[in-house]
Amino acid sequence: MVTSDDLADDARNRREGAAPGPRRWAVGQRLRSGRWRSVSRRRPGWGATGARSRRPTWAEIDLDAVAHNVRHFAALTGAGVMAVVKGNAYGHGAIMVARAAVEAGAGWLAVATVDEGLQLRRAGLRAPILVLAPSDPAEAPAAVAGGLTLAVGDLAGAAAVVAAARGEPATVHVEVDTGMHRFGVWHEAAPDLIARIAALPGLRLGGVYTHYATADEADRAFFEAQGRASGRWWARSAPPGSPCRSSTRTTAPPR
Ligand SMILES: Cc1ncc(COP(=O)(O)O)c(C=O)c1O
Repeated sequence: MVTSDDLADDARNRREGAAPGPRRWAVGQRLRSGRWRSVSRRRPGWGATGARSRRPTWAEIDLDAVAHNVRHFAALTGAGVMAVVKGNAYGHGAIMVARAAVEAGAGWLAVATVDEGLQLRRAGLRAPILVLAPSDPAEAPAAVAGGLTLAVGDLAGAAAVVAAARGEPATVHVEVDTGMHRFGVWHEAAPDLIARIAALPGLRLGGVYTHYATADEADRAFFEAQGRASGRWWARSAPPGSPCRSSTRTTAPPR
């Protein structure tokens, strides 16, 4: 719902011609039907490119479609769904999209940064949250306190989580780089790192995954090469009875 505060904000932005602070925020509205609608608004004063503009922009997000997609992929794969809501759910409104996804059955949420995860916690989301992007070891205490699970790509990252947990059980996921080259341990070194991390006292290896770089492209060659690299480390690094493993991919349609 757009409140009188929002309108006052807009009026001030228009007067001042500039909007200090965040340029976008999301509000949610429960429709009479009981459905939620997420409304992402950009403050008048700045356009999408950062250039000054006086045209307010609205994006109306159909949260029923989000819920439908979660249920669809759960049914299609027979697996749990982790909803990636990084970057304010790609501009769709992280809190509302996360709520809709969880209500529709997503068992996990994923964000890019510790801050994003803590924002969801402050909004009352209790689902497990994975932080996908590399975090600074100095952020580990805040992440652990907020009940966030960090992805790590080296031993130092995992050790920082153990230290932050101060004797409480701690969990990390390991990102394995099979060709995305954004983050993670190179796949040839992954089995060794995974074994060392799994052996850290007090630490549980919660998941191992890779990130496909070209999964949404028509040419499947690189996607399949990454898959083959995944297969190689996957087989070696998964001891019998190993904890949950996960593999994430980008916007790939199911094949
Ligand atoms: C492992 C992993 N899977 C999926 C995603 C989401 O995909 P995209 O790269 O399309 O944002 C990310 C995003 O950071 C990721 O790290």
